[in-house]
Formats: sequence, structure tokens, C-alpha cells
Amino acid sequence: MANLSLRALTKAYAQTEVLHGINLDVEDGEFIVFVGPSGCGKSTTLRMIAGLEEVTSGEVVIGDRVVNHLEPKERDIAMVFQNYAIYPHMSVKKNIAFGLRSSKMSKQDKETRIDEVAGILDMTHLLDRKPAQLSGGQRQRVAIGRAMVRDPAVFLFDEPLSNLDAQLRTQMRLEIKKLHQRVGNTIIFVTHDQVEAMTMADRIVIMKDGHIQQVGTPSEVYHSPANAFVAQFIGAPSMNMLPGRLNGAGVRLESGLQVVTTHVSATNQDVLLGVRPDDLTLDQSGQMLVTGQVTVREPLGAETLIYVATESGEVIAKADGRSPPDVGTHVRLSADPANVHLFDADNGAALA
Ligand SMILES: Nc1ncnc2c1ncn2[C@@H]1O[C@H](COP(=O)(O)OP(=O)(O)O)[C@@H](O)[C@H]1O
Ligand SMILES: [Mg+2]
Repeated sequence: MANLSLRALTKAYAQTEVLHGINLDVEDGEFIVFVGPSGCGKSTTLRMIAGLEEVTSGEVVIGDRVVNHLEPKERDIAMVFQNYAIYPHMSVKKNIAFGLRSSKMSKQDKETRIDEVAGILDMTHLLDRKPAQLSGGQRQRVAIGRAMVRDPAVFLFDEPLSNLDAQLRTQMRLEIKKLHQRVGNTIIFVTHDQVEAMTMADRIVIMKDGHIQQVGTPSEVYHSPANAFVAQFIGAPSMNMLPGRLNGAGVRLESGLQVVTTHVSATNQDVLLGVRPDDLTLDQSGQMLVTGQVTVREPLGAETLIYVATESGEVIAKADGRSPPDVGTHVRLSADPANVHLFDADNGAALA
């Protein structure tokens, strides 16, 4: 096991730079999730850590070695991809053993190690089967097993759950998390799915356009997003953004409504007032933020999402699942001022 550092890492393809100086320190045993929209540079970063992609500038450090010039197999890492390639003609056991093909372990030690890994993954009874006789989740576990047998310092996962159906994805998410709790290796896991990031990570790295936007625990990035992008990327449905202007007393929304905010006393600054659907209530316990007409309802069971047409655009709120307001109803939505976020309208930065 080992810690890992990325230092001012950049990547350019021909003349186009796609990663613009990535800095990150990962602690030994941490579960780190890289999350961001497609094309933001997650896979490229992971592939540079793995040694599958050349580093343009900067350093990848694993343990206390700069590994930029080491071959993938010399880096003490193992990678699991989205299209996990397990061999259909080989048994589960042979597939897992494949991870040890270049190991100098004795045959007996290999056997012991494979049994150990099969035990951890609960696959001992499946070792003689062929992949065709396995479920999708079991196949995914074989791919993980093949990475695990080498007991790598760092596990790299690139969207390994994206091809699975929703139910299996949830199940595998839990399995990988439990596995990490048991084995304790350092994990770097890439996904575009913010729910996967929130549920699995010790810390989340949110990326956009080749830049890190924020690094923090799930609670930090959810409750204290560094900017409007993070605020809207993490959490579903997305945080509502109401345009307004600071005027010393708080924010004057475009709708004309004056909102008192607990923080920020600057004046004459255009801002976005952010409020999560979960924090907008129909009862008038908080401070009134918007009024409008319910246009759509989405029942989720315990709660119902309501889409409300307001002067500040469409706003999403959560209503009680049993007695949500009807479509066409005029509603007043309020929020506790403590749950309101403010962002600079120009650059999106969170205002303290
Ligand atoms: N081999 C390549 N040649 C040129 N551009 C590439 C290559 N691989 C990736 N890119 C570009 O680099 C950026 C980051 O890609 P990638 O790391 O795959 O994103 P992600 O995994 O976050 O979806 C994208 O703009 C992509 O088009
Ligand atoms: Mg990718």
C-alpha cells in the first residue's frame, strides 16, 4: 500500500493541452473518486498514473518514487476498466491467476493467494466455472479478483460499473466499498456518476475541462461547494440558481424580492443565489425566495419533485409524497437562510 501524489501534472495531445496542472495528495489507504462530465480528463489522469499514457509535464509519485519513467508493470498498481476483459475460454481460477502471470511467486504461493482472493470476493465455489456461467456482477468480481491477486499498492478503476444495470451497479458499489474496508488498499476510482462518487469516496475530486474544481469529503463538497459548477454537479436534482445582486442588506433577486442573507455584506455585485431542492419548503418556516406555478410533478414515493415556473426561471422543490400540490397550483417556496449559497455571477466562485 502507498500514498500517491500528482504534481503539476499536464497532458497535451499534439498542441492541445487537455490537463492543465493537476495537484493531488492521496493518503495511504484512501478511497479517492474522480468525478466530472465526459471529456474532463478523468481517464487521461488515471492512465498517466497507470503508465499507459505519457506525462507531458509534472510528476506522478507512488510511495516515495517518481514513477514517470517506469513501465506500468513496475508501478505496483492494478487497473480495472469499464470493458473488463476476462477470457471466456478460461475458468474463473485461470482468469484470476492471469493477474499473476508475470509474478515470480512459487506455484504453491500462487495457489494460496488465489484461494485467499476468491475467499475475500466470495467466489471460492465458482473457481471452476467459465465466464459464460456467471452473472454480470460475478464477472465484474473476476476482473477485480485478477487485479487484487497482485496485492497492488494502488487500485485504479475506470468507470467499472458503467456497463451494469442500475440494480447491479448499486450492489457492486457496496461490494467495492466493503472490499476497501476489508483490504484497505489505496483506490482511485473514476466515474461520471456523482451518486457513485458520493456513496463510495473518502474524498471526491471534482474535475471540469482539465482542471480540479474541488477536493473534499462527500459532506464538504455537498455542503460547502467551492463554486457554482460543483454546487450543480453534486446532488440530484441540481441546486437551483436564482440570479440577483448584493445590495448591502442581502440579495435583491431579479424578481424584485429582497432576501436577507446571513453572510456577505458587499454591494453592487451580481450573484447567483443557490438553494437545493431539498432545502426549499412549501411551508413558510423559512424566508420566502420564490413564488410560481407548479408545472410538473414527479412522484418518487416518499417525496414528490415539483417543477415550479417562477420569475427566476424553473425551480425544483421537494414536496411531501402524500399530499403534493396539484399542477397549476400557485406555491410560495421558502428556505432557511443558513441553507442558501451565494456565488459570484461572473466566475462562479462561492462567496464566503
Ligand atoms: N488519444 C487522444 N488524442 C487526442 N485527444 C484525446 C485523446 N484521448 C483523450 N483526448 C481528449 O482529452 C480530453 C480528456 O479525455 P478523457 O480523459 O478521456 O476524459 P474523461 O475520461 O473525463 O471522459 C478529451 O477532450 C478528449 O477528447
Ligand atoms: Mg473516461
